Amino acid sequence: LTNHSSGKMGYAIADSALRAGADVTLISGPTNLNPPGVTKLHSVTTAEEMLRGVNEIIADMDIFIGVAAVADYRPKTVRSEKLKKSDASIQIELVPNPDILASVTSRSSPPFTIGFAAETTDLVPNARKKLREKKADLIVANTVGQGGVPFGTEFNSLILIDHRDEIDLGSGTKQLLADRLIMEIAPRYYATNPSSHS
Ligand code: C5P
Repeated sequence: LTNHSSGKMGYAIADSALRAGADVTLISGPTNLNPPGVTKLHSVTTAEEMLRGVNEIIADMDIFIGVAAVADYRPKTVRSEKLKKSDASIQIELVPNPDILASVTSRSSPPFTIGFAAETTDLVPNARKKLREKKADLIVANTVGQGGVPFGTEFNSLILIDHRDEIDLGSGTKQLLADRLIMEIAPRYYATNPSSHS
């Protein structure tokens, strides 16, 4: 799963997984990037479409990686016509979007699930809280640093968090970190699903 601000990281992960030999279904929000060559590409515009796309395929997936920075809210109503300008202030009512990752982990037999956490403070404790609350198998934490890194840049710096340890994946290009991440995900997935190792 990916969308604009997290697009590069999501696309890099899809590319790494494909090169590691996985069949990859990429559900992507709008980006200005060329998507990697994946097994199946599904383009969506809204969080609700993304959720529907996930629900259509998730039963067949062994591993789910949620990279998209899904908006927490959406406008309650969408007008079909342009709003006329006036001097009066206006209000837009926002309603919560579905949490796609949480909907995956609350299934009766969820795939091995990896979420992302972008934090500006207390990176590891906040990411660990997210791991528990979202019932994910792994959370990938990235510090939102100076200059807005990782948003809109080639670079990132990641810490992988499981229910026991923190593994510092270091800093580098999103593609390098995606390769490292896939190398860390694979043995953990096989450890929980020994029969699937062929
Ligand atoms: O709750 P928060 O946005 O901090 O959690 C981040 C993780 O949850 C990411 O993996 C993101 O893709 C996922 N998420 C989601 N649906 C939402 C919000 C976040 O799947 N509506």
